[in-house]
Amino acid sequence: MANRVPSGPEGVPFLGSSLQYADDPLGFMERVAREYGDVARIDVYGQEVYQVTDPAAIRRVLVTNATNYRKPSLGGDEGLGGLLGDGLLTSDGDHWQRQRKAMQPSFYGEKLDGYGEIIVRDTTELADSFSDGEHTDIHAEMSELTLRIVVESLLGARIDGMERAIREALMEVGERFQPGPQGFVPEEVPTPRNVRYRRAVEKLDRILREIRRQHEYTGDEDDLLGVLLDRRDEGALSDESVRNEMMTMLLAGHDTTALTLTYAWYLLSKHPEVAERFHDELDSVVEGTPTVADLADLDYLDDIVTETLRLYPPAYVVYRQAAAADELAGFHVPADTIVSTPQWVVHHDERFFSDPWEFRPERWTDEFRRDLPPFAYFPFGGGPRKCIGDGFAMREAKLVLATLGTRFEFDLVSTASLDFVPLVTLHPANPVEVTVRAR
Ligand code: HEM
Repeated sequence: MANRVPSGPEGVPFLGSSLQYADDPLGFMERVAREYGDVARIDVYGQEVYQVTDPAAIRRVLVTNATNYRKPSLGGDEGLGGLLGDGLLTSDGDHWQRQRKAMQPSFYGEKLDGYGEIIVRDTTELADSFSDGEHTDIHAEMSELTLRIVVESLLGARIDGMERAIREALMEVGERFQPGPQGFVPEEVPTPRNVRYRRAVEKLDRILREIRRQHEYTGDEDDLLGVLLDRRDEGALSDESVRNEMMTMLLAGHDTTALTLTYAWYLLSKHPEVAERFHDELDSVVEGTPTVADLADLDYLDDIVTETLRLYPPAYVVYRQAAAADELAGFHVPADTIVSTPQWVVHHDERFFSDPWEFRPERWTDEFRRDLPPFAYFPFGGGPRKCIGDGFAMREAKLVLATLGTRFEFDLVSTASLDFVPLVTLHPANPVEVTVRAR
């Protein structure tokens, strides 16, 4: 086995590179890759992390040697695991495996086709509420829309009138996971941030109970919540575990898709030539309201979503922890090492993408897709822990863009470029204000 030790920034005693990381996580990850290469060693928040940006090594971590790389519980109970418990995103081992198998059918095949109608109906309701010339925050609109869609599709309930409360509570929850030591002040310590967090979680739990009550009357016993409740009745799942899966769906099932849509509208507004081709394609394919069947003929729309996920990947880094020692790209990885695989860095690597900071949907030709090394592009992760909602999310993003795009354009109110705050996912630092223009 190789005994090469990767190099990395020196950092300062005790803090390592924590301050530089907290100041600008994205810039820091880019700089580390540029200066120290495809496997680099960094020291943040008292934790040694190997940053891996070689696609073949990433594939080894996520796929071919996945059994050696578990999900680390970063921050322990104070991290995301404290909120989502044994939900699918944060659990591991046998429980995760059984749950993944039980939940998988809700995300593929016929089930997925059925969600198309809900997506278009909810999006049409939003479109009907827009008026020409109106100003709105497109990130807030997309968050509330994707919340409605995920709750209706998977949990069999309507959340009319509660969207805003849920979105705001989720934002307060998200703040706790902002990079930086302050995020991990134990939950019991009544800092203002912790108090807001606790109240927000209580509010979300009340809403989840309300969704469950509604599901008893209106839900389908075959929808995802129906499947989870069946498992509970069989004694395979506790009530607490059902709650954890519901909370996971609320968070993982809306936030990343809302960000994808927000960034897509932002990029379309900044690139009129792309927007024109987007509208031309819609006008030639869609008659009236878009359907799932139309998606097969909307190739350019697919390129737009694919390129948006490359340029601004909502999941900008994935972490794992090595159980046993391993070798990655010629470097020795000791047991217990935390490994980070940052989409943010790899998706902007000139070795794989020419003019990587340019938004260019045209680059995604069949040939380009075929020749791209595996894991040079991995917005949904990969291997056994690959996003269970990848098909759902792609379908949703495309149908929402198509449904709104046939009727509207969104002009950015400010010409300033986007600033990001990397929370658990990559958020815009400010509201993304647009003017709604009827086409
Ligand atoms: C564009 C939208 C989305 C992006 C970019 C995204 C990204 C990801 C990534 C990168 C992972 C892997 C994390 C890891 O390996 O540590 C993941 C896992 C997961 N995602 Fe998504 N996701 C999206 C949409 C969705 C949707 C719509 C749902 C549910 C409806 C969802 C539910 C989940 C769940 C439950 C997991 C954990 C799966 C497991 O570990 O078995 N995601 N997602």
